[in-house]
Amino acid sequence: MTAFGGDWTVDKLKRVTAYLTSFQTVLKNQNFDLVYIDAFSGDGGVELRGDELPLLEIGRVFTEGSAQRALSLRQPFDRYHFIDASQASIDRLGQYIRTERKELVDRVCCHIGDVNVELPKAIATLKPNERAVVFADPFGMQLDWKTIECVGSKPVDFWYLAPTSAINRVLMRDGNLPESWRTGFYKESNQGDLFGAGVKLEKNAAIEVIEDFIHGRLKNVFMMADNKLRLSDRGRPLFTLMFGCSNSSPKAFGKATKIANHLLKG
Ligand SMILES: C[S@@+](CC[C@H](N)C(=O)[O-])C[C@H]1O[C@@H](n2cnc3c(N)ncnc32)[C@H](O)[C@@H]1O
Repeated sequence: MTAFGGDWTVDKLKRVTAYLTSFQTVLKNQNFDLVYIDAFSGDGGVELRGDELPLLEIGRVFTEGSAQRALSLRQPFDRYHFIDASQASIDRLGQYIRTERKELVDRVCCHIGDVNVELPKAIATLKPNERAVVFADPFGMQLDWKTIECVGSKPVDFWYLAPTSAINRVLMRDGNLPESWRTGFYKESNQGDLFGAGVKLEKNAAIEVIEDFIHGRLKNVFMMADNKLRLSDRGRPLFTLMFGCSNSSPKAFGKATKIANHLLKG
């Protein structure tokens, strides 16, 4: 069981799960097979960390993680891809599926390995008659920019937990993003500064600046929902949840971003 979250974890999972239900409802009468890709699946469950629970809460508190929630929807997806770098997590998830969701075993493909290798493989399997939701819920900056671009190369709805706090830490330390992020950003930019003229990288990139920057860059790949949701722990910003859609049909991205904007309200 992965132990990493507090109230904000449950909040994030509820919103993304609500989107999965809407996605299925909207596409119900169309001839698409629906695919869910969990880019950082974990083992299916989440143990909420003790120090983030209310003082009077006694014992260990568990909640369903993204994988269990996606597998428990009233209307299942036609295919699932679960990706995680941890062999132990994927083993536990497999065990859960074999015991609790037997009927879905044939629809599931589990990938053990780095997201930047495994997610492009999962994306490459998408066929023209399939529509996918990708959920990327990393601990930090594991998802390379190139991989994000690969996700946007197919008609995909993309939920991304942008690691604003991790980026802020890197910027405060040395003002330099890792190559895997920097390359992609620089490629798009005509300006010398990563954050554009007038914004100092070295010591103090405000969270809003980082959020706007990531959101703006994602607009090069996806039609983005305008709203973004900051997730904080006791006032400390950790991540920002964002949504983008790469489906080129105006009707599809219009509907998708409308629902996502609603779900991304604070
Ligand atoms: C925040 S947890 C995901 C939680 C999960 N979405 C849930 O709701 O239960 C992040 C996961 O990413 C996995 N991970 C870390 N680095 C990775 C990488 N480079 N590639 C794939 N998975 C990675 C970790 O093993 C961990 O399970």
